[in-house]
Formats: sequence, C-alpha cells, structure tokens
Amino acid sequence: VEPPRPLVVKPDREPDMDDGKKKVTIFFGTQTGTAEGFAKALAEEAKMRYDKATFKVVDLDDYAADDEDYEEKMKKETLALFFLATYGDGEPTDNAARFYKWFTEGKERENRLENLQYAVFGLGNRQYEHFNKVAKVVDEILADQGGKRLVPLGLGDDDQCIEDDFTAWKELLWPELDQLLRDVDDVSGASTPYTAAVPEYRVVFIKPEEAAHLDKSWSLANGHAVHDIQHPCRANVAVRRELHLPASDRSCIHLEFDIAGTGLMYETGDHVGVYAENCTETVEKTERLLDYASDTFFTIHADKEDGTPLSGSSLPPPFPSPCTLRTALARYADLLNSPKKSALVALAAHASDPGEAERLKFLASPAGKDEYSQWIVASQRSLLEVMAEFPSAKPPLGVFFAAIAPRLQPRYYSISSSPRMAPTRIHVTCALVYGPTPTGRIHKGVCSTWMKHSVPLQESQECSWAPIFVRQSNFKLPADSSVPIIMIGPGTGLAPFRGFLQERLALKEAGAQLGRSILFFGCRNRKLDFIYEDELKFFVETGGLSELIVAFSREGTTKEYVQHKMAEKASDIWNIISQGGYIYVCGDAKGMARDVHRTLHTIVQEQGSLDSSKTESMVKSLQMEGRYLRDVW
Ligand code: 2AM
Repeated sequence: VEPPRPLVVKPDREPDMDDGKKKVTIFFGTQTGTAEGFAKALAEEAKMRYDKATFKVVDLDDYAADDEDYEEKMKKETLALFFLATYGDGEPTDNAARFYKWFTEGKERENRLENLQYAVFGLGNRQYEHFNKVAKVVDEILADQGGKRLVPLGLGDDDQCIEDDFTAWKELLWPELDQLLRDVDDVSGASTPYTAAVPEYRVVFIKPEEAAHLDKSWSLANGHAVHDIQHPCRANVAVRRELHLPASDRSCIHLEFDIAGTGLMYETGDHVGVYAENCTETVEKTERLLDYASDTFFTIHADKEDGTPLSGSSLPPPFPSPCTLRTALARYADLLNSPKKSALVALAAHASDPGEAERLKFLASPAGKDEYSQWIVASQRSLLEVMAEFPSAKPPLGVFFAAIAPRLQPRYYSISSSPRMAPTRIHVTCALVYGPTPTGRIHKGVCSTWMKHSVPLQESQECSWAPIFVRQSNFKLPADSSVPIIMIGPGTGLAPFRGFLQERLALKEAGAQLGRSILFFGCRNRKLDFIYEDELKFFVETGGLSELIVAFSREGTTKEYVQHKMAEKASDIWNIISQGGYIYVCGDAKGMARDVHRTLHTIVQEQGSLDSSKTESMVKSLQMEGRYLRDVW
C-alpha cells in the first residue's frame, strides 16, 4: 500500500507563466560539453515529468547581449537551474565568462533576485585547488541577492563519477520541482522513474558512385571575420621538431602553425585550441568494432526529413556531412576516453547477446556503481576497450555518434611565441602523452600523438594541417616593461614564458627599458629534457632575461624542484614583490602550482615578518591586483 502523499503546500512564489505554462530556464556554462549535456538531459527528463511547464536550455553567452541585458533578463527569471563548470585556475568556461564577470561584479546589489528560485549544479574536479569555484560563487551570490535555493549546491566531481553526482542531485531536485510544477490534484506519475530514450541521429547512406564530389567536411573557408571554437581556421604545420635530447625516452614537440593570410591574430600569453585527429590505428579499430567499411559515405542530421526536430532528444548539431566514416571517426569522435554510463546504456540497447546487454546495464546502474568505478574509471578503460569486451553490441551510426562516442574536443596549449617575433606563426610546445594504463593498453594522447606524427611544410608540400583558433587569456606581461617579473614554469610550463621573453627582447630592441626578470625552470636532467636550452641562454646573453634558474629533479640524489630554488631566492622574490613586480606560474595545477603557491606563502610570511592571516591577505591582494597570475592545467 502506498503511503498517503503529503499535502502539497502551495509555494510562496509562483514561477513565471508562458502560454499558461510555468517557465523554467536551464543555464549552462560548458567547456567540453558535459554541463551542456546535463542541462539538456535534465530538460528532457523534466519535460516528460511536467507537462504544465516549459523548459528552455540556454547557453549563458547567448542569453544576453551586454551587462544591461543580463540585468534586465535575469531579474525576470523566476525559476532557474544552473549547470556551471569550473576550468583551469578556478575560472569560468569561455561561454560563461561574460555572465560570470557581470554577475560577480554586481554582487553588492541587494535583493535584485527576490523573485528567483534556483538550483546550481557544479562540474569540477576535486584534484584541483579551486574545486567547483564558479558554481560555489554563483550559488552564494544568488542567495545573497534574495534568490531562494531549492536544493544544496551539487558538487560534481570529475575525478570520480560525475554522472552519479548528477543523478544524486537530481533525486533531491525532483521533489522540489514536484511542489512547484505540479498541481495539487495532479498525482500522476509523481514517483514514476523516467528513463530517457537512447538518442539517435538520422543517418542517410550515400552510394559510393554518388559520393565522389560530395565530401564537404571541414571545407573551411578561411577568412572568417572571427575565428573561434565554432569557426576554427585551417592552419598548416610549418615546422615540427623534437625538443628532448636523444637520450630521452619521452618526447616533447615544438610545432609551428602557419597563420599567414588567415586573419587569425594572437597576443603573447594567449592559448591556441587545436582540433586534432585520431590516429589511423584507433580509427581502424573502431571501424572493425562497428562493422562498417571505412569508406561508408553518409549524411547525418539532428532533424527529421521534413526539417522538424527528432523527437525525444535535443541533440547538439552533428558534424559537417556528407563524409566518410573514416573522416567522421578521425575528426569528430572521442574514442579513447572512458565511456559514460549513458553510453553503456546505449550499447546495451544494441547488444544482440542478452548476457552482454545485462552486464552493460548493470555497469550503468546504481548497483553497478563500484564496478563501474573500478572496471572502467580506475582501469582507464577506453570506449574502444569496452566495445571490444562486448562484441555483440553493434550500434547503428546514428546512435554511435549521438549517444556513445562524445564529440572530440579541441585541446588547448599555451602559445609559446610572441607575435612581435613570429607574427605569422603560432608556436606550440607539447609534451607527448604516451604510456601504459592499468589494463596494459598503451594510451596515446590524441593531439600530442597527432602533432608528433604531423608532416611539416618544411618536409612536404602535402603537409599536415588542423583547424585551430585562439583563446584570449589574461596571462599577460605588465603594460609597463620596466616592472620586474618572476616566471615559474617547469616542463612545458615554460611555453608562455618563451613567448614573454621573445616579447621582451623585441621591446628591448625597440628601445624599451626592461625591468628585472627571473625565470625558474625545472626538468629532470640537462641531458634529457632541458628544452629550449640554447634559446634561454640567448635571452640571458641579450638581456631579455636577467636570471635563469633551473631545478634538475633527477640529477642529484634528492629531488630539486622549482619551489626549492624559489626558497633559496626568497629575498630576491620578496624584493620584486615589494617593488610592485609580477609573479607568473604556468604548468601542472595539481602538484606543482599548489606547491609553488605554498612556497610563495612561506616566502611572503618569512620575508615580510607577517602573521598567517596578513600573509593570506597579501597573497590574495596580489591575485586581485592581477600581479600573481597562473596559467595552469
Ligand atoms: P619529476 O618528474 O622528477 O618528479 C617538469 O615536469 C619537472 O617538474 C620535472 O622535473 C618534474 O620532476 C617536476 N615536478 C614534478 N612534480 C612537481 C611538483 N609538485 N612541483 C614542482 N615540480 C615538480
């Protein structure tokens, strides 16, 4: 016997109405598509649950034209859900940056959101110092400004299983939405669990004889007014060379993209986004697993033949087609990450062997949680490895691209050149990702592998190219070149500083006065991975760099890291800080940047003879003033 349903209390605030329906806005701030995917999945599920409400999924960037517009529109929202990812050094995603700036700058304005009821789900990674910072900040300001929080902030942790965090948060949210979006007398389906249908694109196969003149994929028209993540620019690889010394068993690539005549511009310190391709070995393996020939030619659509949207799922637009399966798998499918639970469900739906289907469903179910974290996440099993374990699962291409293989994302690199030295080139310094996973598979990073094997123009007219775009950063030299600077960048963390030094040298040659500069670089051994050694020495000789300090971690009996060298230079660092200088850190966020931060703290505390709270506020204010900048990943 079902327990009696509690009497539904009428909410003190009614959500806004739209055609007699209550209006709910679902915002997302996404970098790799996960937040967007969650926002859309929630909307789909909510649509099935509440027929008296409308759900609109909104990209925060598209929401408003300017600050005033944000102000106007946000004030009118009555029920809003936010999916917000945190990126890099506690930063918002690119598409949420404008919103975040407006929202945090206006935080003092009281009670402007009195009519709003809201819930926030954050996407982050606990390994990072600023875990879910953006979601935390937004959640708090929303409350400070009079918004009513429906459920506690969801803290999605990508280090574990973020899909589980999302599911758990939804379970808290539904009862709240039930109260707001269901009529008092409407008891239908209140507790019916809803399972989303497996989404699927519409695929139309084309006969090879009709295909020859049709392959339009990435027929990039360079000369776009703006190049961005959606409108990348085709750039040739002009130069590629190995930076590690012959004795090294690892690899680090120096690559130069030719941007002459493309209209693409960059500034020293910016990032470049690169759309690389999966290597042939990976693609061929996938073709075999899917049981399709590589020259299968097709078009792919997110709508029906008559142009109406496919029902049941709001899919992102598929990739440019017609194209061959070979092209689609190489350019658009993420095949080497672990599959999401929703991908396992989709595979299960197309597994002809009932045992395999059951096991896939189990792995995706709450009961299979531990097994999923062990067998898939901790083992770093790739989508391909999982598919190989379930050979009877043969999804159609429309399902594969919509629900199983996520879209391959661009990879970002700190640009290692300055336009003052290299106006028609974008330089990248990229460590090769290559190594065994717990299952014994050799994991080869998609983009670094592509770079390693790319053919530069210096070797062949048939050179490699990639769609690229520039992402602006605030990692910039002081406007006044006479201000002293400290740069800390071990390994490929050196990249933006090579750009900085090129810029400083160019400024010096143009007659500018340069302030003192110290670079802390770290590598394992001078005979293995002291990258750009000659160039760094040249910068010292020519006055672009005052002092080069290198920590070799594997030369002596004890590890020496950049932070140890910083401690030795404590009084110099303190002097530079006291003179209004800048500190820059670039590289690994989880280990290095954290340890460097602690060391900086200690230096400030000891050299300034400050207590710990004064130290804290001094370091904070360095950050607030933009004099302590980090470009970390
Ligand atoms: P290791 O590999 O010998 O531990 C570039 O990767 C350099 O950064 C290497 O010399 C590496 O040393 C070093 N490194 C590793 N962890 C670090 C940390 N937490 N702080 C500073 N440097 C680190």
